[in-house]
Amino acid sequence: MFFCLGNICRSPIAEGLFRVKIKARGLADQFHVESSGTSGYHKGEKPDPGSIQVVQSRIGEDISYQRSQQLLCHHLNDFEYIVGMDASNINIANRLGEGNLFRLRDYDPEGSGDIPDPWGDGGAMFEVVFDMVDRSTEALLNHLIDVHNI
Ligand code: 4NP
Repeated sequence: MFFCLGNICRSPIAEGLFRVKIKARGLADQFHVESSGTSGYHKGEKPDPGSIQVVQSRIGEDISYQRSQQLLCHHLNDFEYIVGMDASNINIANRLGEGNLFRLRDYDPEGSGDIPDPWGDGGAMFEVVFDMVDRSTEALLNHLIDVHNI
């Protein structure tokens, strides 16, 4: 479960990229992938146009099928990995209950810390977010394949 605040900018990119990566490796049926937001502000909405655009232009993939949902208590039990985009996301999720929570950039081979919130920013910030999410989801997938003998 990838999550951010609104589930319209960062975590939809993470869900989209992770799906593409597992499909490319023939592992789509080994994973259950979703994304969500700690808030329900955008529940039912498509990803932000900036997120749809950056994924389309960078890898030719359409993520407009996604719909925003809120991260709920039961998700913390249902998912083996609950992957936040920034420290604030993690703090809020920690109040929902116990779960295997971590920040996506803990797996970034080129850095660490938060995935910045691009909401309301221009396209340049979505490009930065895309690169961070791309590197981090690639490394996360390699890690999961390793530890779970997939
Ligand atoms: P996200 O970006 O958490 O990456 O989806 C945001 C989207 C909406 C809001 C904040 C962040 N908002 O306050 O509505």
